[in-house]
Amino acid sequence: MKLSSLVYLDSALQATAQQWANRFKLPCIDGSLIAATKPKALQRFLLAQCAGEGAAFVFVLDRHGILLYAVGGENLLSIRADFYGPTVTYRRKQGGGKGQMIAKAVGVRGGVHPWVLDATAGLGGDAFVLASLGCRMTLLERVPAVRALLEDGMIQARRFGLAQDAGLVEVLDRMTLVEADSLNYLRQVSVAERPDVVYLDPMFPVRTKSAMVKKEMRVFHSLVGQDMDADGLLTAALSCARYRVVVKRPRTAPALVGPSPSYVLEGKSNRYDVYSLEKLPDGLNTSVAA
Ligand SMILES: C[S@@+](CC[C@H](N)C(=O)[O-])C[C@H]1O[C@@H](n2cnc3c(N)ncnc32)[C@H](O)[C@@H]1O
Repeated sequence: MKLSSLVYLDSALQATAQQWANRFKLPCIDGSLIAATKPKALQRFLLAQCAGEGAAFVFVLDRHGILLYAVGGENLLSIRADFYGPTVTYRRKQGGGKGQMIAKAVGVRGGVHPWVLDATAGLGGDAFVLASLGCRMTLLERVPAVRALLEDGMIQARRFGLAQDAGLVEVLDRMTLVEADSLNYLRQVSVAERPDVVYLDPMFPVRTKSAMVKKEMRVFHSLVGQDMDADGLLTAALSCARYRVVVKRPRTAPALVGPSPSYVLEGKSNRYDVYSLEKLPDGLNTSVAA
């Protein structure tokens, strides 16, 4: 599916909209008149922007930032990188802390907060959880539209945090987004830039009939496709990480091709394959970025 245009829903956002549109070489369209109408009207309006293209994606800019709408299906579905909505905030403030499986997989424990390179950042959900737990995070995402959502999500969250949530700003200060393909990055990283842990969560084919797969997840899959080079990422990650590589997989999916994991942490729908290279030292703390 292709990106068709960028629609802004508030005329005050025109300049920002134009910058994003220029970056993607997309037509920039004023949608402020339909902003207050019903979702069906928005759907018709967005569909009209992709006339002749069938299914397509449209960026929509509202006062909370950028969303990506998948247009052409029965329902209007959208995705955005959210770091300060109620669900995310609840997990950050009341969630399972170091007891969460992802924390154990990466090796977060009392006084130990490794520097993690998330080589498949997507919309940044996992990276944000780890940054909330005190890890310094480097995020790599290769799909430009996904990276734009991530970048804007971080900008919007910082704006919100500066106004009313200092703890959120501290978390965002630990997150750095890098524009790169991970395979190249992992292969070329200098000794000083080697992270403690490399985290991989490559795309896995969706079982399209499964009701378990959230609709937003399907939009994401149709945007990104499959990560056919994930096995190569594991090899590169194993020679780049100082202490361990962690691979998130659907619970029943095969492991990535390569050495067997040192151990596996299994949850209800996902599991973490952990490849230990060396013991994480006590006192390894990247909470405050260097
Ligand atoms: C399943 S998603 C990751 C979801 C993420 N863990 C989260 O919590 O939002 C996989 C992402 O990895 C990205 N990706 C896969 N291979 C990559 C590579 N070699 N370099 C950079 N990004 C990559 C894909 O574009 C996709 O956005």
